Amino acid sequence: MALIKLLMLFSLTLSGCICETKLDWRDKKVILPVHNQSQCLSAGTVNVLDMISAVRSIKTGKSLESMSAQELFDCNPDWCICNTTVSAHDVAISIDQNLLNSLDLERDHPFTGQCTHTCDTRKIYETGFHWDYIMMTPLNTTYNNEEGLSDFLAEGPVVVLTKSSSPAFQSYAGGILDSRECNTAGLPDHSLLLVGEGVENGVEYWLARNSYGEDWGEKGYIRLAKGTNVCGIGYGYVLVGWPINNKHK
Ligand SMILES: *[C@@H]1O[C@H](CO)[C@@H](O)[C@H](O)[C@H]1NC(C)=O
Ligand SMILES: *[C@@H]1O[C@H](CO)[C@@H](O)[C@H](O)[C@H]1NC(C)=O
Ligand SMILES: *[C@@H]1O[C@H](CO)[C@@H](O)[C@H](O)[C@H]1NC(C)=O
Repeated sequence: MALIKLLMLFSLTLSGCICETKLDWRDKKVILPVHNQSQCLSAGTVNVLDMISAVRSIKTGKSLESMSAQELFDCNPDWCICNTTVSAHDVAISIDQNLLNSLDLERDHPFTGQCTHTCDTRKIYETGFHWDYIMMTPLNTTYNNEEGLSDFLAEGPVVVLTKSSSPAFQSYAGGILDSRECNTAGLPDHSLLLVGEGVENGVEYWLARNSYGEDWGEKGYIRLAKGTNVCGIGYGYVLVGWPINNKHK
């Protein structure tokens, strides 16, 4: 009897939720697992690299693979690998300026942890995955650009610059976060990989991957209420434009 009662309760709860996942790029198998950013690589680094992995898979139909973080750092004249202050914005600028919008796969240029500052951009342009352009908003954007995100997201995952210092964000444990407190003063100090959007009981939300391990939030993910710039999600983004040459891996 108790079991039947429990089952009934469960189905009531399920039917009580009017839920619609509008888009979840994880369903297309193009999103790499949740990272633990304390393991050497910053949030901005893993988010931009994994966005590129996703775009590569979406555009070429090839199976999902990690991009080379070592190469990203080797090709920057100023940073050493394991620099955890490198933001998504920094990575986007470096890819644009130092890598001609190309990057090898992790397996072709594996992680060594060595700080080399050596880079053959022409070679990477030939051997690596190549895309058209990387687009980013200025860091000092002060308007909420949230409405534009849906159109970008329809083409592939987008890195969104966000704020992370509030307790509302740090201690997020699930559900749709709708807190003004999360949009703290100052410039974005964090980023997330935006992978989807949906509606739950009439509340529209963004779905994003964080980099605090799988124990945080909803198996490492967060849902943020749409429309009020929660955690500053509308202030800035980084995205990758169409690859122009599909023969590259
Ligand atoms: C770390 O990255 C920052 C940019 O975010 C740069 O200013 C700094 O020089 C880097 N430090 C090292 C040791 O690579
Ligand atoms: C925002 O930053 C960009 C680049 O750093 C700069 O050119 C621009 O003048 C800044 N805009 C404002 C309103 O501060
Ligand atoms: C992430 O790293 C921290 C610090 O090294 C560790 O305490 C935590 O357990 C790790 N979490 C996961 C999910 O690996």
